[in-house]
Amino acid sequence: MASSFTFVLSASLLVIIFLEITSADFNNEFDITWGSDGHGKVINGDLLTLTLDKPSGSACESRNEYLFGKIDMQLKLVPGNSAGTVTSYYLQSEGPNWDEIDFEFLGNLSGDPYILHTNVFSQGKGDREQQFYLWFDPTVDFHTYSILWNPQHIIFSVDGTPIREFKNAESIGVPYPKDHPMKIHSSLWNADDWATRGGLVKTDWSQAPFTASYRNFKADACVVASGKSSCGDSVALMSEELDTTKQERLRWVQKKNMIYNYCSDSKRFPQGFPPECNMA
Ligand SMILES: *[C@@H]1O[C@H](CO)[C@@H](O)[C@H](O)[C@H]1NC(C)=O
Repeated sequence: MASSFTFVLSASLLVIIFLEITSADFNNEFDITWGSDGHGKVINGDLLTLTLDKPSGSACESRNEYLFGKIDMQLKLVPGNSAGTVTSYYLQSEGPNWDEIDFEFLGNLSGDPYILHTNVFSQGKGDREQQFYLWFDPTVDFHTYSILWNPQHIIFSVDGTPIREFKNAESIGVPYPKDHPMKIHSSLWNADDWATRGGLVKTDWSQAPFTASYRNFKADACVVASGKSSCGDSVALMSEELDTTKQERLRWVQKKNMIYNYCSDSKRFPQGFPPECNMA
């Protein structure tokens, strides 16, 4: 008993020691992968901006690949009339059977709410959308969007409030993202064929350029390089549960702010919901 306790304790200490803790200089952590002609840029190391206009959108990706951890980014979204624009912020692995954890912000006319769209892909299969209205205007200030990802679950949070939990449901046959390291990606692009009111409201190019801003990137996460994790074998022991206060807040957000949940879209799944929907 005592010795297994000591083992768990020292193993968790190891996890803490080997976690890569970075509060970013964007110049060291990210590359501009689209719109490097100035549409995407880093200002003074601590601010990254992505811009969209008629000729081009822009995108960036992290240099590091991560497998588990907690990743925070502060975003300030396109203000004013952002209808038709989408700002995506996500983790994604490479290859045909990729894993992906998505935040997407669907713009709107001035004064109308953005939609925060979330999804989880495992082994190339997504179709697990949940959408939310935010409880603040995401274009006025920076807000923190976080992904906590460990072998047990994925938790999406906004300013520390959990909005969605995706549990590991491998025990009932649902693939879980746990084998492929992912990079952090973000992009700003035109999606006016579907984004705003289902594509009814188009991008008003007279309002361009559209700009989204990023700061305070923090990855408290395991970095994988040449097949090795900076967390070593202790990855398997990583866990972080939602305490009761957080569970209550999650339920509150899901009740008040969720506007779409694939797990209650019976029209879409006439033959029955995906198995993970029936997990407690
Ligand atoms: C935009 O505003 C309309 C009207 O309030 C709303 O129905 C819609 O969900 C909002 N968001 C998007 C992205 O369309």
